Amino acid sequence: MVSANFLTTVPIFSNLKPEDLEPLSGKLRRRGYQKGEVIFHQDDPADRMHIIVEGNIRISITSDDGREKDLAVLQPGDCFGEMALLDGSNRSATATAVDPTQTLALYREDFMEFLREHPEVVAQTTSLLTSRLRSVNQMLGDMAFLDVPTRMAKQLLELAQAYAGEEAQGGPIEVPMGQDQLARLVGASRETISRALNSYRRLGILSTSHRRITITDLKALERMVSF
Ligand code: CMP
Repeated sequence: MVSANFLTTVPIFSNLKPEDLEPLSGKLRRRGYQKGEVIFHQDDPADRMHIIVEGNIRISITSDDGREKDLAVLQPGDCFGEMALLDGSNRSATATAVDPTQTLALYREDFMEFLREHPEVVAQTTSLLTSRLRSVNQMLGDMAFLDVPTRMAKQLLELAQAYAGEEAQGGPIEVPMGQDQLARLVGASRETISRALNSYRRLGILSTSHRRITITDLKALERMVSF
């Protein structure tokens, strides 16, 4: 059984004490997924949500012709799959395990009963949905107003922040990411991303090798997004 202490680290439950979470912990079911395994597809019917214990989950949407756009990459402590439980619709997006992943599944009836008993969790869940809406607004603004090279520079700056080690102060920053993955994050074709990477490479801002982008001039990358 999962510890109630772990559940206090999950943002939607963070206002509760371990003793309030004890009854819920007995209802969670541990599930394991392999790297690349799809947990559910967009438009699937839904009966449970998940809390990530280990690994990362990619949330994406797919066009009719099979192109993919990533909406978020979620980490341990994050939950996903709550939207379809709350509005009774099908899945709004696809969830895929980025690495070997462990989740705790919480079934609709148990989640709804817990929400009725703990209104503070309703407030925290609203806050989670609001932050997801804000990040989508930001993404929509970027897609509408910025060209692909600028969006790519913004994305690379975020990745640089995530992957910069303490020792990297001023030095090159290695981002372990292939062009297909970067294209899904930016919302552009792989070919367009490849062209944008080439132009930044010619400017001496970065270099690329197999599944790796090395940012060599962070200041110049920052200038690409400030206008
Ligand atoms: P649900 O619609 O049940 O299934 C897909 C899940 O992906 C959804 O619930 C949310 O948990 C999650 N999700 C959908 N859109 C976003 C987003 N923009 N940012 C982060 N997570 C999302």
